[in-house]
Amino acid sequence: MKSEEVRKKFLDFFQDRGHAVVPSSSLIPDDPSVLLTSAGMQQFKPYYTGDADSDKDFGSKNTVSIQKSFRTTDIDEVGDSTHLTLLEMMGNFSFGGYFKKEAIQYAHDFITKELGLEISYVTIFEGSRDVPKDEESREIWNSLGVTDIREEGLEDVFWGPTGNAGPCGPTTEIYCKYASGEDVEVWNIVFNQFFFPGSREELLSGKSKKKLEPLESPGVDTGMGFERLMAVFEGQSSIYETDLLEPIVSKIKELKPGLDEKVVRVLADHLRSSCFLISDGVLPSNKEAGYILRRLIRKVIGYEIKYDIHANLLTEISKVVVEKYGHIYKNLDEKSVSLVLEGEKDKFKTALSKGLKELADYKKLTAKDAFRLYETYGLPFDLIKEMAPGGIGKSIKQSDFDKEFERHQKVSRAGAEKKFGGHGLILDTGELKATNKIELEKVTRLHTATHLMQAALRKVLGDQVEQRGSDITVERTRFDFTFDRKLTDEEVKKVENLVNGVIEKDLPVNFEEMPLEKAKKTGALYFFKGRYPLQVKVYYVGESLDKAFSKELCGGPHVERTGGMGIFEIKKQQAVAEGIRRVRADLKTDK
Ligand code: ALA
Repeated sequence: MKSEEVRKKFLDFFQDRGHAVVPSSSLIPDDPSVLLTSAGMQQFKPYYTGDADSDKDFGSKNTVSIQKSFRTTDIDEVGDSTHLTLLEMMGNFSFGGYFKKEAIQYAHDFITKELGLEISYVTIFEGSRDVPKDEESREIWNSLGVTDIREEGLEDVFWGPTGNAGPCGPTTEIYCKYASGEDVEVWNIVFNQFFFPGSREELLSGKSKKKLEPLESPGVDTGMGFERLMAVFEGQSSIYETDLLEPIVSKIKELKPGLDEKVVRVLADHLRSSCFLISDGVLPSNKEAGYILRRLIRKVIGYEIKYDIHANLLTEISKVVVEKYGHIYKNLDEKSVSLVLEGEKDKFKTALSKGLKELADYKKLTAKDAFRLYETYGLPFDLIKEMAPGGIGKSIKQSDFDKEFERHQKVSRAGAEKKFGGHGLILDTGELKATNKIELEKVTRLHTATHLMQAALRKVLGDQVEQRGSDITVERTRFDFTFDRKLTDEEVKKVENLVNGVIEKDLPVNFEEMPLEKAKKTGALYFFKGRYPLQVKVYYVGESLDKAFSKELCGGPHVERTGGMGIFEIKKQQAVAEGIRRVRADLKTDK
């Protein structure tokens, strides 16, 4: 096993040079200002600042580790030859033990002597307002015979801080060649000389009043992506061909031959990452790390739907991942991983399929539409962008989508959390709410029933019936409308019979998209207080819009046909205000 040899070589090399071997820390970091562990140095932050003593804890000022790291910022890059969401990061660290000379010498010797590889070129820091050009590193590289030295700035060769404050400093990077001839950054060697009391964004903005403070004793932090190193070492042209990822890639290809290479890579990456995240205790949810995991899993499920993959990738690939990595990361557990993955699939597959189907009908797409698709069907933003027909999703900006997301979260948080004790809602249109697939199916049926009921109420009571409110949960639909007296038992019965008649006829439910003004002219009902976009959907129950039993402006979701919805029953009626009645109704099924 080539990668296993290199793994051992790396740890031995630094152990022989006085480094204590420290196991990888969890992907869930101690530092609450960081979502997921993204670098080897994260578990060592307090040793740079003097808040912890490395000699005492590790018996040395120098440590070495291979750290599982997750890079959210690279999600969109996954599928090329160099980027992954989860990577194993090899690193050596020093907390006041050694500095530039040894750090560069070690890296140089490991790459060129231990592994026999060639360095294409290196980078050094070009200098900024507060930090001088790194001439010292240039001299060290020169003394080792490396002459292609390129200068770069804060953006590329200045590391940190991670989280909301921390150690940081200039870096020097080593680039090597893939078999394809592409130069890739293999090793990043950071000289932690400073502490910055703010985030990296603040540091780079150049506008912050916060100042870089020199660390009492400067330290070294290095990071080398194991997968990239292996691609160079094995003479490959991408990380996916290395023996670290190849077994996963092969299995996917075996389970579904003929997939596009990029699709295979995304599946391989996302499934591998999901296994690691779940094993470290991340569970899919609608926020923070849980949401990142959920996006990864949903993308996989979305691909399964889109590319018609019937083999159970979630289970099959988690087996391969655990087989490949279980002996190193002992907490990787096939059972719990596939339980979580399958649970997520059970909950969302139907909704995701519906969402993708709806997405396929869009002619143009805005951030608002994308958010609605996310909100209604759980389609993650990147999936929407990627799978929208004719590339119409490409121009939507993440920041615009995020704005919609935040706006919605503010509005829905209070109410939703009260009702569901903070469980993730897979559907919350304001009108309909569901927390899982079964609930989603029920509220969808109740939603169609509500349209039928409104049409029936108008047929029985007259046109003065107008919607004033609607709220649908898994237990019932609640509908408020203008009418000035109690309904008689006979009227209630008539409404129920009309609705049940339509259910029995098994009529189709469809929508047509059109401009708002035109939609209003079709006679479709709409909620007068509702705020509608300029382009709307008219949902209708019946063979055509003209002959429909019910038509309403609405965003869905609805059943495809009325048959099998259940038996409609009005359970309760009351007055809620002068001239406004409220009814509660339900569908009885044997399901
Ligand atoms: N902390 C540095 C990195 O992750 C070494 O690139």
